[in-house]
Amino acid sequence: TVTQATFPRGFLWGAAIAANQAEGAWNVDGKGPSVADAINWKPNLDLKDFTAHMAVTDENVADALNGTHDAFYPKRRGIDFYHHYPQDLALFAEMGIKVLRVSIAWSRIFPDGEESAPNEAGLAFYERLFGEMRRLNIEPLVTLSHYEMPLKLSERYNGWVHRNVVDAFVRFSNVCFDRYKDLVRYWLTFNEIDSIHRHPFTTAGIREEKCAPGQEKQDIYQALHHQFVASALVTRDCHAKIPGSQVGCMLTKLTTYPRTCHPDDVQASLKKNLENLFYADVQVFGNYPPLIKRDLELRGIELLVAADDLDILRQHTVDFVSFSYYMSMTESTQPDAERTAGNTVLGVKNPYLPASDWGWQIDPVGLKISLLELYDRYRKPLFIVENGLGCKDVVEDGKIHDSYRIDYFRSHFEQMREAVHEGVELMGYTSWGTIDIISAGTSQMTKRYGFIYVDQDDEGNGTLARLRKDSFWWYQKVIATNGSDL
Ligand code: BG6
Repeated sequence: TVTQATFPRGFLWGAAIAANQAEGAWNVDGKGPSVADAINWKPNLDLKDFTAHMAVTDENVADALNGTHDAFYPKRRGIDFYHHYPQDLALFAEMGIKVLRVSIAWSRIFPDGEESAPNEAGLAFYERLFGEMRRLNIEPLVTLSHYEMPLKLSERYNGWVHRNVVDAFVRFSNVCFDRYKDLVRYWLTFNEIDSIHRHPFTTAGIREEKCAPGQEKQDIYQALHHQFVASALVTRDCHAKIPGSQVGCMLTKLTTYPRTCHPDDVQASLKKNLENLFYADVQVFGNYPPLIKRDLELRGIELLVAADDLDILRQHTVDFVSFSYYMSMTESTQPDAERTAGNTVLGVKNPYLPASDWGWQIDPVGLKISLLELYDRYRKPLFIVENGLGCKDVVEDGKIHDSYRIDYFRSHFEQMREAVHEGVELMGYTSWGTIDIISAGTSQMTKRYGFIYVDQDDEGNGTLARLRKDSFWWYQKVIATNGSDL
């Protein structure tokens, strides 16, 4: 008999947002400025040039520290989830989601990063949020660091380059574990920990112009090492403080194909993939891969590794592997190969794949390939914690007919179902953007991912009204049938 592919019972269907892109209320109830609050909207730039969009200047930092020019900084207003969360959660519950991924804005808890006591108003906000989620039977999946470290730590230490930030983060995390131990069971430490190389400021508070000339890469790897150690330390503390808790790493899964079967192209794509997997390797296996160590040596990068660091990494590995997946990439050694953008990456265009308006190449089979590869390599449960299609939506008579988004999700869910059928242990799935939020890469409001539309434009005009898109009803049906009716 042939068994039909199905999702496991109790599969955690859900959706994801991040504090800095959704909450707004950036200076309310004692919150300090975060790195996200210093990134302005740059309307006239090429949408595929993520480096330019995510760049930060002294003026931007001064604006965030002084609270000036709010209008140009969309992440400061988000979609005002801070005040709308009861209605928003009610909509998410109506859709049937079982898990919601959110992050805690570190600078709500420690506005400057290193106060002697946490900010009670910030702690109380997340207590209300998680409490309401529990009341609605929505399991919280909480990221401790999602592109929103206190700006003051960035200023004081050039971010994670300095070891003191490890202590500050461990303290912040422990305050969260103590306060939310009865509410939150699933935790992620660093969102897309690999992204430190692509946007060091938003990921780790590092301004490359503040590094010693020629030391930029050295500093970024040092900061990454600090994040690895901090992640292991808080994994230890979470396990000690919250019995039954599970902690995951979080990788941007950038699956890369060779453009041709020429061995040079195959080697180039293999190297890209090994580099991408390195981050999860450290967090799952508890040590640096030998090829990466050698690569750093060849590049003259020497890490300062404290006496216990390697033991800490070895002892406190993660329970599950989570990742984002939006698109696949292609690599070629041919200099004239046509190029395109992806999620904060540039690569070679794949002639077999369509792409979004931002150049991201839509590849559902790539998701299955990623699942098979990650499960075979790590043999740990996997959790897809971001996936989705960013696009402009049109409202007609109060309706949003987003069949393109439904097609995107359907084709990805089919591949997930196949992967599960073939033996992959998949805990759950949280699509990116339950609701439209501000884009991380371009700070646009109109790059929309949600099942729920938010009436706001790139300049912040709009009523903030929430409207259900066609995909809302479709996802509701998918969840109700545990993915058997796609
Ligand atoms: C992921 C980030 O890389 O991509 C999210 O973790 C982000 O924060 C998402 O929003 C989509 O990227 P963008 O630039 O379209 O918002």
